Amino acid sequence: MTLPKQGQSREAVLASMRERKAQDADWHGARTFSLVYPANDEVDAVLADANELYLYENALNPLRFPSLRQMEVEVVDVARGLLHGPEDAGGCMTSGGTESIIMAMKAARERAKAERDVTRPKLIAPVSAHPAFAKAAHYLGMEHVQIPLDDDYRADLDAAAALIDDQTAVVVGSAPNYPFGTADPIPELAALASERGISFHTDACLGGFLLPFYERLGEPVPPFDFRVPGVTTMSADVHKYGYATKGASVVLHRDGEHLKKYQRFLYDRWPGGLYLSFAMAGARPAAPIAAAWSILHYLGEDGYVELAGQIRDATRRFQQGIEALPELCLVGKPLMSVFAFTAREGSGVDPFAVGDAMDDKGWCIDRQHGPDALHLMLSPKHLTVAEAFLSDLADAVKHHGPSRGKQARYS
Ligand SMILES: Cc1ncc(COP(=O)(O)O)c(C=O)c1O
Repeated sequence: MTLPKQGQSREAVLASMRERKAQDADWHGARTFSLVYPANDEVDAVLADANELYLYENALNPLRFPSLRQMEVEVVDVARGLLHGPEDAGGCMTSGGTESIIMAMKAARERAKAERDVTRPKLIAPVSAHPAFAKAAHYLGMEHVQIPLDDDYRADLDAAAALIDDQTAVVVGSAPNYPFGTADPIPELAALASERGISFHTDACLGGFLLPFYERLGEPVPPFDFRVPGVTTMSADVHKYGYATKGASVVLHRDGEHLKKYQRFLYDRWPGGLYLSFAMAGARPAAPIAAAWSILHYLGEDGYVELAGQIRDATRRFQQGIEALPELCLVGKPLMSVFAFTAREGSGVDPFAVGDAMDDKGWCIDRQHGPDALHLMLSPKHLTVAEAFLSDLADAVKHHGPSRGKQARYS
């Protein structure tokens, strides 16, 4: 398109956008299973107000907008508390899991260079770790080395031990990973790293704002946070199971000094003045910080525990319903509400054909491979559609046509 010569009315602009938006996935109706984490209408209303209040400000300069700095510090501190970081831990907010991960990997690279003279830094992460780690390695000039998975779809410890060497800057584990929702053996992996003075990152982008509340519900949660001695950094996304609107994640360092020494960027050779920044972005939108702060305060611990209970109940119902179908089974043993399911061997069912039949019924289910499987990530709202989903799934397994293609789709 080209820029219209004359501007249109506000009504016309919005009508045109609404028309386009009608083609988008129906996340309000809980028919999507990734990208948006719907909690409920009250949460949405708070987020809308918080976003509106901070639509224009810029979080780049904390001196101009001290309220933003304060809110950021408090969001980071809440995450630190939930993940049992020590009092002197440090951290900052970023635009999302990917940026948090890139910053943690950058800090690990700098630390390895400063403390161990590592000049060809390696980033060692399980095959199931998010592509953000591959992206970080690519951007930061690190070698990305993948740890194969064991039969339970968790990082294989023997393989990890064999891959770690004197050029290893950082070892990674997920709690949980996206594809299978399984948690890696964090204490064992972190011990392998810390014995050699190597950084260890727990990617809790998914679990950081849900597992602490699963624990309060009395659900079994394996050690994954700063209570594990060798964990040096963590990522936790407020815009996933913290329910904030997009653009809100936290990266944390056990040692607050590392944030300053290895993550922060300070530049004083510019006529424009002293430039200080903690992550990739320069200008930073204020609304995600405000949204994150508002929702932590609106829900409080009790609200998060209640929503975690709804997610747990939805997960039980979905998983029981899937396993009750003789043709289907879960992949591995998922830790929380993120999981994949596939066709049982010998069932003659193609999971992608089932996915196509579900698409036709209006569900948006992500596909993945290794093995071919369908992927679900449940939010509180999914409790309201569990029965409809399972009834459509049973029908899709019985009456699906041929698969429209084996191409895996990830979102
Ligand atoms: C386990 C895990 N880590 C990192 C990320 C990256 O987060 P973002 O998409 O916010 O950059 C995701 C995204 O789904 C994830 O599931």
